[in-house]
Amino acid sequence: MKLTIRRPDDMHLHLRDGMIMHRVVGASAADFGRAIIMPNLVPPVTTGEAALAYRKRILDALPESSSFQPLMTVYLTDDTDPSEIRDSIDRGSIAAVKLYPAGATTNSDNGVTDVARIRDVLSVLAETGTPLCVHGEVTDPGVDIFDRESVFIETVLEKIRSWEPRLRVVIEHVTTAEGVGYVRDNRPFVAATITVHHLILNRSDLFRGGIRPHYYCLPIAKRERHRLAVLEAATSGDDGFFLGTDSAPHLASSKECPVGCAGIYSAPVALPCLAHVFESAGALDRLESFASLQGCAFYGLPPDSNRIALEKSAEPLPSDRRVSVGDDWIVEFDPGFDLYWQVAGQVSEQNG
Ligand code: NCD
Ligand code: ZN
Repeated sequence: MKLTIRRPDDMHLHLRDGMIMHRVVGASAADFGRAIIMPNLVPPVTTGEAALAYRKRILDALPESSSFQPLMTVYLTDDTDPSEIRDSIDRGSIAAVKLYPAGATTNSDNGVTDVARIRDVLSVLAETGTPLCVHGEVTDPGVDIFDRESVFIETVLEKIRSWEPRLRVVIEHVTTAEGVGYVRDNRPFVAATITVHHLILNRSDLFRGGIRPHYYCLPIAKRERHRLAVLEAATSGDDGFFLGTDSAPHLASSKECPVGCAGIYSAPVALPCLAHVFESAGALDRLESFASLQGCAFYGLPPDSNRIALEKSAEPLPSDRRVSVGDDWIVEFDPGFDLYWQVAGQVSEQNG
């Protein structure tokens, strides 16, 4: 069985920097045409100039023949200068900006402590039609970790949108029925990315047979009813939802330890997993819209001109896949089922 689709885009990707970036960038470049690159490096990418320098490091790390295009973002802080953001947008240095509530996730300590601090930046974004990508979780330790997304939407996101109703917002890695409902109620200004792992995991999977650090990410996987709502959104053909893998590599040593960090490295298996999930949902014909058409449309970009072929092979991919990094390694996402769908390669225009 074979499926040919436009080359997908990954609208939420962590490539890191240095040695890890060199080990992971090829997997994304092999299967995706473009990606929205997350800016939560240490230190974070907080200006257009830093974003361009990071872009150059990514391009330098790519295999020679690659046409992969990193689309850059900047990380908002309490002190982000709205005129610097305007200049970066005008020069085309950035495709979006990212709001991390301070302390919400990996490398978010320099994030925004109060969205009132970035009101002028939000105005620039609304005026220029530039998407605000939000890590939509409140950080109040008094709010249960499973409720942080829905509370963020009710409190912080509603406030932001009351200030700037025409602001274009992407709820990154949406995980709840409430988040899905909010997108549906607030089109066309609000959209959401959906990860591969949130289509597959529910919160019980985190503890299947014991604690599973490689299933720990933020936002954390929710109850099964939420997974089903997110799955329905992804496979519905609704253009408010599109792929953002949130592939987030961490060294095994920092995940397999008493206080393991959040992030799942899914890029190498993202398309095989998606094909499996969409086929199981009877929605293989909608995979292309979700992975290759709806995201770029929201960002005002044309679909990729290349196509890729996915093929169901007789043998599954080997399990227990890992990428070595010096003496350490990065564990690839294991969906818990065999992966028969595989990316068979690019299809040239003449054959496609
Ligand atoms: C991401 C990371 O590791 O950078 N981790 C995660 O659990 N998703 C950050 C993020 O997107 O929240
Ligand atoms: Zn992320």
